[in-house]
Amino acid sequence: MLKHQSLISSMTLEEKIRLTSGKDNWRTVEMKHLGIPKITLSDGPHGLRHQEEDQDHLGINESNPSTCFPLASLTAASFDEDLLYEMGRAIGYEALCQDVQVVLGPGVNIKRNPLCGRNFEYFSEDPCLSAKLGTAWIRGVQSMGVGASLKHFAMNNQESNRMKSDSLVDRKAMHDIYLKSFEGPVKEGKPYTVMGSYNLIDGIYACEHPYLLNDVLREKFGFEGVLVTDWSAMNDKKASFMAGLDLEMPGGAVYFDEEVREAILTGKMEEKYLDQSVDRILDLVFRTRNSREKMLAEYGPLDKNSVDREKHHELSRRIARESMVLLKNELGILPLEKESMHRLIITGALAEKPRYQGAGSSHINPYKVTSLRDGLDEKGIKYTFFQGYSLMDEEQEEGLEEEILSVIEEDDIVLVAAGLPDEYESEGFDREHMRLPTQQNELILQLTKKSRKVIVLLYSGAPVEMPWADEVAAILNCYLPGQAGGEAAADLLFGEFSPCGKLPETLPHRYEDHVTSEIYGIENYQVEYREGIYVGYRYFDKAGKQVRFPFGHGLSYTEFQYEELSLSQYEIRMDKEEEVTVSFRLRNIGEREGKEISQLYIERMDQEGYVVKKSLKGFKKTSLRPGEEKIIEIKLQTEDFCEYDLKLEKEVLYEGRYMIHIGSSSQELRLTGEIKSRGIHLDKAEVPQYYARLDGKPSRSAFEALKGIRIRKTEIGKPFTVNNTLYEMKDALQMRIVMKIMKRMLADATGVKSEKDNAYKVVYSMFMHTPIKRLSLVSPDKMPKYLGESIVHIANGEFLKAAKKARDKK
Ligand code: BGC
Repeated sequence: MLKHQSLISSMTLEEKIRLTSGKDNWRTVEMKHLGIPKITLSDGPHGLRHQEEDQDHLGINESNPSTCFPLASLTAASFDEDLLYEMGRAIGYEALCQDVQVVLGPGVNIKRNPLCGRNFEYFSEDPCLSAKLGTAWIRGVQSMGVGASLKHFAMNNQESNRMKSDSLVDRKAMHDIYLKSFEGPVKEGKPYTVMGSYNLIDGIYACEHPYLLNDVLREKFGFEGVLVTDWSAMNDKKASFMAGLDLEMPGGAVYFDEEVREAILTGKMEEKYLDQSVDRILDLVFRTRNSREKMLAEYGPLDKNSVDREKHHELSRRIARESMVLLKNELGILPLEKESMHRLIITGALAEKPRYQGAGSSHINPYKVTSLRDGLDEKGIKYTFFQGYSLMDEEQEEGLEEEILSVIEEDDIVLVAAGLPDEYESEGFDREHMRLPTQQNELILQLTKKSRKVIVLLYSGAPVEMPWADEVAAILNCYLPGQAGGEAAADLLFGEFSPCGKLPETLPHRYEDHVTSEIYGIENYQVEYREGIYVGYRYFDKAGKQVRFPFGHGLSYTEFQYEELSLSQYEIRMDKEEEVTVSFRLRNIGEREGKEISQLYIERMDQEGYVVKKSLKGFKKTSLRPGEEKIIEIKLQTEDFCEYDLKLEKEVLYEGRYMIHIGSSSQELRLTGEIKSRGIHLDKAEVPQYYARLDGKPSRSAFEALKGIRIRKTEIGKPFTVNNTLYEMKDALQMRIVMKIMKRMLADATGVKSEKDNAYKVVYSMFMHTPIKRLSLVSPDKMPKYLGESIVHIANGEFLKAAKKARDKK
């Protein structure tokens, strides 16, 4: 029975179809005569990107000012659900003030490879951490009566060819790693909406995937809200409806309306699917509108000036401070003293012009931004500044380096702000390598030859290689810290607070150490997830590979002691829903107040089958004064021990033994206990060779055996269709002129003057790699359906057909 049956019965078929795609980029369709108001959806996830005019979803045009909170790659390092809840609540409040009903976030895709251009928007390589933080963020936003949109569902782990890549993942990795990250947020966070991703999975578009949308998301996870496409991710609307998808965004193109209408009238699709989606959309609209009324009754009338900007700036500062990770601190060089005898030198263009957020749809227009220098100036710290390197102009490099090197003396304390320039990381493309710009690496190495007290502050959305890590005295990883990053770093450097963040991902020595380094970004049509469940630390641990800094690592200015592990029970059974309480004593044995993130990992002791050495299953952040101690409890449920069995095709608990490890990082395990499990006997069936030992890199044949398929290469060529991209069609001789015109159109549309401009690079890459059909969906005025189809005819050499299309405009 539908909730809004009587309203739906009063709608015409056309009205119902119309309601299932938006009005424009951000709004749903309003039907005044039916009493259906419109709602607004805006990006997320680290602040509100609400555009009233000049709409686009690529981060080009300005949006209303809002608070730029630290990015997910940094907030993940807080391991702090309360903090994520608070941040979500603040974003929800800003949404309420700007009359936005749904915030598009959080992104809980797993960081499969460090080069993914969008890793800054995602939390972790670990599904437990990612799921818990995503859940907290959703709860925070939704506590303000504003909906969240959990994205991007699913197996969307790269930006290269993101609209056409086909993720080939074995079912165990799919369930134990990639879908786990969504399961908690859906079941516990209950987001009002979930966003389907652009890519395909096993040859089927995510937005029309019956297994993922219906069997997993709706049936297994119990999702009852609105399933919305990523912007222009719709491919076949009938198939989407039947798989459980409801809302197509953005709207305005009415690309599929006629097709859907005809399918219903001719019986190709039952109308009940449409009604179901309309019902869910109506529910979202009324629910968010009603909760807005309630909130306004509580908070009073609100508008975009109602946000207490300073308060949110302070929150942004606190979140950044609670998340930054102290990777190294030799000889206790940190914290620094305000009145030091040593000269303090600050260097690095990023100390002045901070990189605090990434590019693309999540781009925020912040109220204000503080640099590292601002942070130090606020505290009245005396220092000398040298630019050291240039973010833009390679030619200036030598002069800048010389300038600082000529004055450095052995006892100088040198703070270097290093990191990735804007154009290195963005939605829409992946990084080409894991290195910092050469001039920055060079500068740091040269500095370490002159002073023993070099401290590096790192700014990047994802891991970088640190060839100087052994030479410098300290490293503070700031990731992309949001608008108050400068003050947050200064708070930590001068010891007003002790750092407490822990790495939410592994930092390898070199990119080549990564299990996917030989395959990632090479074949971007059939993307083989050859490593299976061995993602992140699960690979490094089992393969016994040294890393630069392990998952969960992070130092403090104080020290903690762990003692007395105990378990509330020593056996769990599959047939019972049980809760095991793991407790231990934690004491601050140092001289400063600090916070420790204790991590709980489990290890299945049966070494047959797909075994991982450690899987994170819980964590707790505790604040302790010097000498203080507390009994810490972390709870585990039976399902935390369950894993997907490839033969039984479901999650099961295996009979056996598990070690429970409590660690201050994934490699610093402090306490260990043991628990028995009563469940299914593991069928010690063949594990394809590679997965038993992880020697070397996984081969295609090992992966084919794991997944039980033969991989066939996608051939790209004529005849082209609207599902092809301009990039795929560009080499046809006649396309040269078309490409010239297109480039000009793009420059006009984006207002970007130079091709060197970062914004242009981002947009150009997305434009070239978006199928023509999706360009028509996202930009119906600039690329109407007939124009898109004419271009395809031209690429195919069908000039008469192209001319006819252009003439008839149909
Ligand atoms: C992104 C989404 C975003 C949407 C709307 C897409 O390009 O993938 O994450 O929410 O645009 O801006």
